[in-house]
Amino acid sequence: MTLPSAPDTAAVHHELRGGVLVVTIDHAPVNAINAAVRRGLIDAIDAADANPSARAVLIVGAGRGFIAGADIREFGKPAIPPSLPDVCNRIEACGKPVIAAIHGAALGGGLEVALASHYRIAVEGAKLGLPEVQLGLLPGAGGTQRSARLIGAQAALSLMLSGRHVGAREALRLGLVDRVGQSDDVFNEGLAYAHELIATQAAPRRTKNARGLADEAASVAAIAAARAETQKKSRGLLSPLKIVDCVEAALNLPFDEGLRFERERFLECRESPQRAGLVHAFFAERETQKSPETRDAKAREIRAVGVVGGGTMGAGIAVALLDAGLAVTMIERDDASLERGRAHVEKVYDALIAKERITPETKTRALQRLNGATHYDALADADLVIEAVFEDMAVKQAVFAELDRVCKPGAVLATNTSYLDIDEIAASISRPQDVLGLHFFSPANIMKLLEVVVPKRVAADVVATGFELAKKLRKVAVRAGVCDGFIGNRMLAVYRAAADHLMEDGASPYQIDAAVRDFGFPMGPYQVIDLAGGDIGWAARKRRAATRDPNARYVRIGDELCERGWFGQKSGRGYYRYESGARSGKPDAEVEAIIDAERACAGVTPRTFRDDEIVRRYMAAMINEGANIVHEGIAQRPLDVDATLVHGFGFPRHRGGPMHYADSIGLANVLDDIRAFAKEDPLFWRASPLIVDLVARGENFASLNRSS
Ligand code: 3HC
Ligand code: NAI
Repeated sequence: MTLPSAPDTAAVHHELRGGVLVVTIDHAPVNAINAAVRRGLIDAIDAADANPSARAVLIVGAGRGFIAGADIREFGKPAIPPSLPDVCNRIEACGKPVIAAIHGAALGGGLEVALASHYRIAVEGAKLGLPEVQLGLLPGAGGTQRSARLIGAQAALSLMLSGRHVGAREALRLGLVDRVGQSDDVFNEGLAYAHELIATQAAPRRTKNARGLADEAASVAAIAAARAETQKKSRGLLSPLKIVDCVEAALNLPFDEGLRFERERFLECRESPQRAGLVHAFFAERETQKSPETRDAKAREIRAVGVVGGGTMGAGIAVALLDAGLAVTMIERDDASLERGRAHVEKVYDALIAKERITPETKTRALQRLNGATHYDALADADLVIEAVFEDMAVKQAVFAELDRVCKPGAVLATNTSYLDIDEIAASISRPQDVLGLHFFSPANIMKLLEVVVPKRVAADVVATGFELAKKLRKVAVRAGVCDGFIGNRMLAVYRAAADHLMEDGASPYQIDAAVRDFGFPMGPYQVIDLAGGDIGWAARKRRAATRDPNARYVRIGDELCERGWFGQKSGRGYYRYESGARSGKPDAEVEAIIDAERACAGVTPRTFRDDEIVRRYMAAMINEGANIVHEGIAQRPLDVDATLVHGFGFPRHRGGPMHYADSIGLANVLDDIRAFAKEDPLFWRASPLIVDLVARGENFASLNRSS
């Protein structure tokens, strides 16, 4: 057996400065705690206790923050001692006062190190939090026990269940830190605090003895309320309820037993597929930001942006841009349409004001940056224009001809088309190198996904500009190639078709929706159609009718509903019935009768499907098309497909994305399913060559993420 090699302790260094042992964590980029940091911290505390000249210990982070948490990359690998709980206990046991001086991120295990310290100071710009829940975990190095004792059950639960970050001032109010520095010079602020503590002969003050849970009745009530709320909201997630259990243990058990209780729950979470899925999603959404173009080229500068079209998407895109502080000029066909476009934008802000998310002043300030025009000359100074007019090639090409005429050289010309061939749009003007796809999702100011669609002739710095814009808008950018539907909508078309086949073969839309929701999607496919409007897909189906393979299975049920004007929520009926403007629908016996009639027409004898059979087909269709998309180079890696589905299509984050999910259930099993389904419908169920190849080589999708 080979033992893990001894960790390199240079990640932590310490030196004595006038009686204070300054311990610096220096592990770029975010001082994540790996084995070397753990070892280094223990060594530093041992050194402090052993050195009579050291009268206090100051822990600081080098670079941009304190400590971003445990090193997430170590999860799933063999554990190397010492463990983080041991490190925190060692810090707390130190015989000299230990001060944590916090700037930037003190998150997860980082905050746990600070909580184990005896005194805490934060400077402006600090971000403190216990975000483990977002990774399917709970604070596992005493965080649940110490935070509850320090700031009380209610505040600790709120922090851990939301995973939110708090700033220095709020941390002070909560009692997470003892003081906020006068300046942002974290080192000197910390040093001054340490000297003050030495001068006043302050003793170590251990958080395990803090009295935040002293009001037992209040703690019991807070725990009961959090448990009830979590049971309602956590939708099958493991860690939130365990966090509540740990806080209860903090109240009821001695500290050491509470720590053991917490550790057991932490390890259960760490080994769970949910943790693996959430950590995959965390890295995927960071990895997608890196494209060959962002490595090789510098983004063009973007200050003024034009948006052509003020409909659903144009208005949403305008809000997203305004929220990022950009100046926006909206172009519409005529004054009335422009007025409607502006009203769309205002409506978005008014809804936010009604929900008290923003103040009326924020709206006023944003609208001051919005201009409108009905002539293209108003775009002469725009650095970027995003076109969001009707989904029609001729209309779009006419718009691009105008942009070609008026825009300054170097302006980025983007289209928000859902399906159209962007190469064809680019080829129709004199500057194809400036044409890019920026595919937003509705509502564009809320949905996190932005597909950056890369046509053949586009310049690298234009692509880099798309990624830079996504960063400004705080969106997850995914690089996609040109094809019908790019990554997301192309997959949607296929897994919706699989759902339609299931429906025609015997499952009701209500059962399908419920099965998909149970899997973790917020809505099933038929609820989504009713929400977005069935007419949108109907128009697309009519457009494609001429080019559809006549041998391919075609389910007419959706068309039947649309022919009756049943477009979903907006018309009060769709797959569901919506009583007087209700947003959640009820099953509709007439719809079931239409489905029965269509089954009869298609010569189908309906059969029953279990929920797990529904999910298997739905997922197999999604995974297979995702594999085709990677195989064709439309998505760079499987993780790009995962980020697309998670951020644009409600795929449950704790399952990581369809490709990660496929790996987790075994790619060979997915292939077996596809081959079994192909016996009934070989045209629809054609195994992707990528899956066949990976299974033959005993590999999985993750191997393609690693090799990128
Ligand atoms: N472990 C390993 N790598 C990490 C990391 C972590 N905890 N946190 C961030 N990184 C990496 C990122 O993957 C990225 O790597 P890359 O450059 O190779 O892509 C790099 O650090 C920079 O991260 P960001 O791009 O996210 O930088 P930002 O400045 O935008 O954000 C941050 C910084 C707020 C610290 C953000 O990275 C973050 O939220 N990190 C996760 C924090 C977290 O969840 N901590 C809890 C960990 S679990 C834990 O501590 C368990 C304990 O209780 C036992
Ligand atoms: P919409 O019909 O709500 O809005 C289109 C707007 O463009 C209208 O206000 C119209 O007046 C305006 N317009 C039409 N021709 C124009 C011209 N020549 N000059 C200036 N303005 C003109 O359509 P929607 O839904 O906003 O879609 C716009 C584009 O975004 C389409 O390409 C669509 O495929 C795409 N898209 C739509 C999504 C959705 O969920 N609705 C999602 C992602 C992309």
